[in-house]
Amino acid sequence: MEPNRPFIVKEQPGTKYYCACSKSQNRPWCDGSHKGSGLQPYKVEIEVEKNVAICNCALSANMPFCDGAHKSLR
Ligand code: FES
Repeated sequence: MEPNRPFIVKEQPGTKYYCACSKSQNRPWCDGSHKGSGLQPYKVEIEVEKNVAICNCALSANMPFCDGAHKSLR
């Protein structure tokens, strides 16, 4: 996955944990690899099935969601 493109995933309703440390082997979701880093995953409640765009460049002002800030990397 290129860092200048968000992860686009179709989510089912439920509690989601999105990686905030970039170490997860299952990005955009947390796999527990943050332990010891002092960072915590982003906890998000998904109410209805929908596609979500998760930031992959760390520049979004609306983490963990993409806000289009990756376009400044081009
Ligand atoms: S693995 Fe990155 S926040 Fe949990």
